[in-house]
Amino acid sequence: MKAIQIGLLGLGTVGSGVVKIIKNHQDKLMHQVGCPVVIKKILVQDVHKTRPVEIDPVMLTSSPSDILNDPEIDVVIEVMGGIKETKEYLLSALRHGKHVVTANKDLMALHGSELLTVASENGCDMFYEASVAGGIPILRGLVDGLASDRITQMMGIVNGTTNYILTKMSQSGSSYEDALKEAQELGFAETDPTSDVEGLDAARKMTILATLGFSMHIELDDVKVCGISSVTDEDIRYGKQLGYTMKLLGYAHREGEKVEVSVQPTFLSDNHPLASVQNEYNAVYVYGEAVGETMFYGPGAGSLPTATAIVSDLVGVIKNLRLGVNGRSAVTPQYPKRLKDDNE
Ligand code: NAP
Ligand code: HSE
Repeated sequence: MKAIQIGLLGLGTVGSGVVKIIKNHQDKLMHQVGCPVVIKKILVQDVHKTRPVEIDPVMLTSSPSDILNDPEIDVVIEVMGGIKETKEYLLSALRHGKHVVTANKDLMALHGSELLTVASENGCDMFYEASVAGGIPILRGLVDGLASDRITQMMGIVNGTTNYILTKMSQSGSSYEDALKEAQELGFAETDPTSDVEGLDAARKMTILATLGFSMHIELDDVKVCGISSVTDEDIRYGKQLGYTMKLLGYAHREGEKVEVSVQPTFLSDNHPLASVQNEYNAVYVYGEAVGETMFYGPGAGSLPTATAIVSDLVGVIKNLRLGVNGRSAVTPQYPKRLKDDNE
């Protein structure tokens, strides 16, 4: 099989991790897919910036058409973030018959349905495992691993930045501002961290989880959101004295056709399994009628963990290419819009 050529959109925290894994795990990738995997072109804003990975400068471009219009590029990996412009690029990639892998929950929570429809119409795969809970294979866990069950409840810590801040405030007595700055320096936070601290990033992830877990189209507007920006040192100290740990908790519950999804700061008893999830780690508790209680745990943000999910999605795309079944994956199901109860 000829080499698979990749166009990478973005070379920041996550994009650098993708470059490292494709380079350092080439033998494992060869073994998995039976052909070399090569990054051909990388879109960035500033081609002159110093990068944390060694890159041949001729690979860098600031012109998206160098990737989107290149017939030799088979797969576009999107790790640049943003919504409007990024959506246009991905729609163009799909219409050019390129498979897409993305880490972009902002885009998938708002426009996932449209993008997945265009992907399927063009016989393309569109995978987005890295969009929720970084390195934890939670989307495949829900769609494939628990395919036979009826999931009724999901509850979890799905934002690494806020969990990092709350952990540092609780354990090291750091101020909110200092802990947020550290999370930004470590590459966990979004370009604009408002979406992390105000709970929107977690709400976007809960929208994706609820859609896949409950097999119904959940909209971002359905999620009730409250972030951690108004949580004080006193709140955390007071909870601690009483045996409680503060977490930003995503919650999704289904009863028949009625669904409730929310994100809010919550006091958990210190012996609750989610209370011990620290720093940028995420965990999602999933309850299925048949399986009972399950828990997914791991690094929810950061360069290499997130890149692992992306390159694993890439492996899925290439395996499908070999089988000739792209565009028909169980990871990209489509559900009709939900009829809402008058009381919701
Ligand atoms: P980042 O470090 O800010 O990197 C963004 C990259 O995209 C940069 O290389 C930037 O170019 C490039 N870029 C941004 N806008 C562009 C534009 N309009 N045209 C061309 N290039 C553009 O971001 P990141 O942390 O890697 O996150 C990337 C995506 O992954 C986001 O959707 C984020 O939500 C998601 N994600 C992140 C994490 C994480 O832990 N960081 C985890 C899961 C998912 P320059 O370098 O030239 O500025
Ligand atoms: N900003 C996000 C977080 C990145 O902190 O969880 C991972 O999606």
